[in-house]
Amino acid sequence: MSDYIWLNGEIIPFSEARIGVEDRGFQFADGVYEVVRLYQGKPFTLSEHLDRLTRSAEAIRLSVPLAKNALAAEIGKLVARSGHRDGMVYLQLTRGCSPRNHVIPPDAKPTLLFYARPLPPPPVPGEGEGVKLLAVADERWKRCWIKSIALLPNILAKSEAVAGGFDEAVFIDHGMATECSASNLFAVISGKLVTHPIGSKVLPGITRAVLLECAEELKIQVDERPLPEEEATRASELFITSTTREVSWVARWNERYIGQGRCGPITAALHRALQSRIAAS
Ligand SMILES: Cc1ncc(COP(=O)(O)O)c(C=O)c1O
Repeated sequence: MSDYIWLNGEIIPFSEARIGVEDRGFQFADGVYEVVRLYQGKPFTLSEHLDRLTRSAEAIRLSVPLAKNALAAEIGKLVARSGHRDGMVYLQLTRGCSPRNHVIPPDAKPTLLFYARPLPPPPVPGEGEGVKLLAVADERWKRCWIKSIALLPNILAKSEAVAGGFDEAVFIDHGMATECSASNLFAVISGKLVTHPIGSKVLPGITRAVLLECAEELKIQVDERPLPEEEATRASELFITSTTREVSWVARWNERYIGQGRCGPITAALHRALQSRIAAS
């Protein structure tokens, strides 16, 4: 299968793509990104991802160089050319090339690129091994709602988790469990679904939003509120969500086992509801 990339308006072989050394994404992490899931060659919740891209870009005083419909059409062309049916599209928008200077240049031409990659088939709800979470201090900035490419705190946290035999890092901010290094966090407490509100410390995850709609359909009560770490570790069920992993049940928090050592019924029901939406999309 040939590997293609859409770079500033052109679809070219991946190996031929070139980015300038003075691209501000490279030098300052001055950019934003999206990851969109592909199912059967179709991007899932593309409209929501492109809306979040626009919000992230505006927040750093950047505008997306293509109108939403035009960008969706270009993504469709790239996906068709790539031949990937089940996978993801990685999209990145940076402020482009300009002589290195912290001040935002008035005239830089943004760099926009995207490409597709295959992913393993989605997990069967309730099956597979549970995720092991390592709690780490949340040392990120206060604009985590922006999907910024500046991911060093996330990279360090996740790497620390994996080096210690865990799968994902969960961030703790002033005693509250906010989200994970690359996923949102949910707890089931007294039959209610609890998740930290989006905002300064939590990315408005697209999967999170779909799951909240699924919860409403399933008549599961939702409590969007800060979640103390101590309470999270005593939850009957815990799970994390993201575009690439859908829903993953949590088996452990540091050394403590969660629930019954298997996926809980509310987690599995919500995951099935998400997969029904994907099938219907
Ligand atoms: C920090 C963080 N939170 C949450 C998520 C989940 O967001 P989404 O469901 O849109 O993939 C991600 C995904 O990359 C993330 O990086």
